[in-house]
Amino acid sequence: MNIYGSLIVLHLLGACVWVGGHFLLAGLILPQAYRVRDTSLVYRIESAYASVGIPALLLEVSTGLVLAYLHLPELASWLDFSNPMGRLVGIKVILLLLTLALGFDVRYRLFPKVETDGLAVLKWHVSLITILSVLLVFVGASFRIGWMY
Ligand code: HEM
Repeated sequence: MNIYGSLIVLHLLGACVWVGGHFLLAGLILPQAYRVRDTSLVYRIESAYASVGIPALLLEVSTGLVLAYLHLPELASWLDFSNPMGRLVGIKVILLLLTLALGFDVRYRLFPKVETDGLAVLKWHVSLITILSVLLVFVGASFRIGWMY
């Protein structure tokens, strides 16, 4: 397997973990925890992010940046929305920044509130991060399929 193929496989593996993990969290784990009012779940979410989620996101960012460089070696064209490749890379970067902003908000503003206000404060953020993760897959597939050219 060549370097490009290995990067695609690693990028897809990271995507499986990141997107699948958020579907589990938003669709199953959080709704169950709201019902039984189990706020201790926040600590388990934190440790799942630390051991699995963040490494998967780092894998996505590192392999994604190299893949973007292979498509567009000229960094200035990464945010050139008149170029189809630049548009896709630019949208990916914007989606990543939104994901990071929501993630920091969850970690530093909302987690400390869960004990007093309950787990529902996390609902919108986790749903939005899950939607962003699906959009990242959609835009990623567009490189090959050309949906957004
Ligand atoms: C959680 C974050 C991300 C997810 C879930 C994700 C997901 C995906 C998926 C599923 C593909 C399709 C791979 C294929 O064609 O077989 C893809 C492609 C791609 N992604 Fe990402 N991605 C993420 C982050 C990023 C970032 C931060 C960048 C860098 C700007 C990036 C750049 C790319 C590029 C350049 C491709 C095209 C690869 C190719 O077909 O040659 N991705 N992504």
